[in-house]
Amino acid sequence: MINGGESIEVVRKMDLPHVWLWTMLLAFVLTWMIFHFNNQRKKKSMLKLAEAATEEIREGVADIIIVGAGVGGSALAYALAKDGRRVHVIERDMREPERIMGEVMQPGGRFMLAKLGLQDCLEGIDAQKLTGLAVYKDGKEGVLPFPVENNTFPYEPSARSFHNGRLVQRLRQRASSLPNVHMEEGTVKSLIEEKGVIKGVIYKNTTACQETTAFAPLTVVCDGCYSNLRRSLVDSSEEVHTPMVCIMYQISSDEVRCIAEIPADSVPSMANGEMSTFLKESMAPQIPTQLREIFIKGINDGASMKLVPTKSMSATLSEKKGVIVLGDAFNMQHPLIASGMMVVLSDVLILRHLLKPLENLANVTQVSQVIKNFNDIRKPMSATVNTLGDAFSQVLVASKDEAKEAMRQGCYDYLCSGGFRTSGLMALLGGMNPPPLSLVLHIFGITFTSIGHLLSPFPTPLRIWHSLRLFVSTIKMLGHHIKVEGARQMLYPESTPMYHRSYMAATALQLNDDVS
Ligand SMILES: Cc1cc2nc3c(=O)[nH]c(=O)nc-3n(C[C@H](O)[C@H](O)[C@H](O)COP(=O)(O)OP(=O)(O)OC[C@H]3O[C@@H](n4cnc5c(N)ncnc54)[C@H](O)[C@@H]3O)c2cc1C
Ligand SMILES: *[C@@H]1O[C@H](CO)[C@@H](O)[C@H](O)[C@H]1NC(C)=O
Ligand SMILES: *[C@@H]1O[C@H](CO)[C@@H](O)[C@H](O)[C@H]1NC(C)=O
Ligand SMILES: *[C@@H]1O[C@H](CO)[C@@H](O)[C@H](O)[C@H]1NC(C)=O
Repeated sequence: MINGGESIEVVRKMDLPHVWLWTMLLAFVLTWMIFHFNNQRKKKSMLKLAEAATEEIREGVADIIIVGAGVGGSALAYALAKDGRRVHVIERDMREPERIMGEVMQPGGRFMLAKLGLQDCLEGIDAQKLTGLAVYKDGKEGVLPFPVENNTFPYEPSARSFHNGRLVQRLRQRASSLPNVHMEEGTVKSLIEEKGVIKGVIYKNTTACQETTAFAPLTVVCDGCYSNLRRSLVDSSEEVHTPMVCIMYQISSDEVRCIAEIPADSVPSMANGEMSTFLKESMAPQIPTQLREIFIKGINDGASMKLVPTKSMSATLSEKKGVIVLGDAFNMQHPLIASGMMVVLSDVLILRHLLKPLENLANVTQVSQVIKNFNDIRKPMSATVNTLGDAFSQVLVASKDEAKEAMRQGCYDYLCSGGFRTSGLMALLGGMNPPPLSLVLHIFGITFTSIGHLLSPFPTPLRIWHSLRLFVSTIKMLGHHIKVEGARQMLYPESTPMYHRSYMAATALQLNDDVS
């Protein structure tokens, strides 16, 4: 669906496990899940190194070490350096990343970028404007625009899609343009810990062959979804490997990304061409007709394909002091809702705001308090997005189960019904500052719409049974998130005013500061 010349509509097709976002296609990406296990290594040699590093370095030249200059690390480096901190960033690979993650920036994420003074990083990278989604199911389509009117969102309500690497490079440039940011290419091997306090890192500079150390009162671990370091800080049993539903979106004026879910146990081989056959025979029939031909042409012309594991993980605070884990290393949402960058940028804003008044980051007690407050204030945004990602992924995956199928139909009808249902869910998806509680209401709305389907035209005992199961599964899903995220933070009214006061309001002020 094209809406006007410059805007892209996103097409979702809910046939089988597939949801399609729109346009012409060139690149196909296959996502499935793998288990990634990495373990603590080489602890001993590193401890020695740490001891060898003498007290004189302890004072250090940096206030903060940031591990990883992805979206989160670069934005944080920029924000904290703007506040006068000396920031040492260590990034494994400074070349432009080529990845299939982080290619859609929701309206809320764009707003966060603007509040950080980084909105221009989305300009000049051939980013495409998304004004909403279009949903396809059984030959029907529904258009779901981001709400334009009557919302509390103080920014232009559209998303952008682009090459992730281009944005990352722009953010890195902006950060390293500040005199108090030292960007170094190197791989962090481990954290230096003393009595439960993280003192710095051991890393290997790309050009040097020896491991070196860097010390700072505060270390921020922002090394992405394959983070090794987080495992030394928190229990990683929370990581859940999630199947991904299929989506399509334009990432530049002439390229389209197509992401498809393939169950982990049945991935066709890419090497012997099974994958191409699978895509043409099993996927193509589910693509909206107007796109099917070019989809097949893309495969025949040898569009590049990549296999990427996906996972989600709720946030857990580390017991260790002197360290903050951020970004995908801290909290991952289901990629279906394309919100990871928005969440990490919002976290960067909150942290910046909380760290600003601290004169000395070396006061471990104070920094620990900041981290605790950070975890509370981020909840309304992060818990909402985590739950939404889970809900959507469960609802949109096709199933032989009658109750789940009814849920899928119910979700489709609810999304397409227009009015407050559509605008409410799109505001949630876009991170447009809806009250967190509204997610719970919409999830119940979808559940009851689905139950309505199940029970019509007349209730039979079997249908009533399915309805009950459906209701229970909704309660279970919500219950799980309320348990993980904390009932107080997620549901009790006190967190909502806190969200608006400490977070939205405070950061909005910051926008004004930056602009003026
Ligand atoms: C399939 C998929 C699709 C997604 N789509 C979207 C989307 O459309 N929109 C969205 O907002 N989010 C999306 N996400 C999530 C989003 O990509 C992430 O939330 C976001 O990139 C996280 O940023 P980060 O800074 O934490 O990590 P990254 O951007 O991954 O950065 C981590 C950095 O750390 C570096 N690094 C790693 N280890 C070390 C080390 N030991 N030493 C030094 N440096 C190191 C890496 O080189 C990298 O540069 C998607 C995720 C997946 C899996
Ligand atoms: C927005 O609110 C105004 C006044 O309450 C109303 O007249 C208008 O129809 C609303 N617009 C939308 C799109 O809901
Ligand atoms: C590696 O370290 C050396 C000496 O400390 C420094 O001059 C150089 O810039 C570093 N290399 C990179 C890629 O940052
Ligand atoms: C750290 O901060 C607290 C107040 O938050 C203060 O009471 C304490 O004295 C500080 N410690 C040091 C070593 O400055």
